Amino acid sequence: MNVLILGAGGREHALSWKIAQSELLTKLFIAPGNAGTLELGTNVMLDPNDFEAVKKVVLKNNIELVIVGPEDPLVKGIHDFFLNDETLKSVAVIGPEKYAAQLEGSKEFAKEFMSRHHIPTAAYKSFTSQNLEEGYQFLETLNKPYVLKADGLAGGKGVLILNDLQEAKDELKEMLTNQKFGAASSKVVIEEFLDGIELSCFVLTDGKSYVNFPNAKDYKRIGEGDIGLNTGGMGAVSPVPFADDDFMQKIEERVIKPTIEGLQKDSIPYKGFIFFGIIKVGNEPKVIEYNCRMGDPETEVVIPRIKSDLLELLIAAGQNELHTKTINFEEDSACTVMLVSGGYPEAYEKGKEIHGLEKVKNSIAFHAGTTIEKNKIITNGGRVIAITSYGNNFRSALNQSYQNIEKISFDKMNFRTDIGFDL
Ligand code: AMP
Ligand code: GLY
Repeated sequence: MNVLILGAGGREHALSWKIAQSELLTKLFIAPGNAGTLELGTNVMLDPNDFEAVKKVVLKNNIELVIVGPEDPLVKGIHDFFLNDETLKSVAVIGPEKYAAQLEGSKEFAKEFMSRHHIPTAAYKSFTSQNLEEGYQFLETLNKPYVLKADGLAGGKGVLILNDLQEAKDELKEMLTNQKFGAASSKVVIEEFLDGIELSCFVLTDGKSYVNFPNAKDYKRIGEGDIGLNTGGMGAVSPVPFADDDFMQKIEERVIKPTIEGLQKDSIPYKGFIFFGIIKVGNEPKVIEYNCRMGDPETEVVIPRIKSDLLELLIAAGQNELHTKTINFEEDSACTVMLVSGGYPEAYEKGKEIHGLEKVKNSIAFHAGTTIEKNKIITNGGRVIAITSYGNNFRSALNQSYQNIEKISFDKMNFRTDIGFDL
């Protein structure tokens, strides 16, 4: 089977790496891909949000399965575009249709879904510029810190957590009346602050059955000790040591099963990944967010721990046959450390030559933001390379990654030396 993966990051390199190992694969295409995916298949230069360009590539190369890496094309309706096109509708698309992608694309939609299906989450109310005054009053009923979330996609920046009531009111006004996050903040969800430790859980579903993937924890902030600006993710660990069998059982019973059953009760078709952002409050799981895709850098530790043939599972999901499949994991831990461009997540430079990748031993270098120019691998993004390693436990896996990182360099390279510090 010919497969197309849409996206250009570490997540897409990790998916490519795994799918390239499948005997069911004939040819792999990645669009646009990066210098890492180039070694596993054919990179095709296009923007995944340009659906007509995707269509051309699919038809020209007899693609039978498309995996949508990032959320944007899903929220914009790429799956619906395939279903509504006579020449594309037999192609399996991994990633939900536009309506279901609102689980990620609209915080309010996700909150309403959770409340309808009794899935534990923070108490909330949503507001627009029409009822700003009620928003102020609601804030007055809450204790600090105050959690304000832009309803729509805001590139991971749309959540504000504020300690001061007046500041929370001012920010609410900025979001609703001055479009602080553009159209994404024309509606704002205000919710109860949850105090706990976070982890990410993932399933692949055909809308009726699902298989659990390994869980993971990512480190979002740029600074050591998890402080400073939010990034796409600076590292990740799988499995999550504090999520014991008991706790995972609670997540399955209270969150995962009710979500899949909720989709069915609401007659919402869903083929693809569901990413559950969970917070452990005391010993109870609560959902912080849904994403309609795999996480990045979580994918770079989750996928390496899957022993089963991922392509076989994806094909089964496409054919509503997931109930016939099971999934096996590596016992070992996997950890990843992200090498980023100096300055990221603020302004940074691209085009720096990356040295030493050929010296990496017993780790996998998943490319996140790289490209090739004149036969040299150069930086092409804020997050550049994720170094993933296995170990008997997360500490030995991390040691392995840090040893290999010593061998890699590029101008202004930065990374966190404390991934897993809190575990
Ligand atoms: P989200 O985009 O909804 O995942 O939120 C981004 C981050 O904000 C999460 O990963 C949490 O660290 C934090 N966060 C979101 N909602 C809450 C909440 N209700 N209580 C505490 N922290 C939260
Ligand atoms: N690492 C968090 C995300 O992919 O949203």
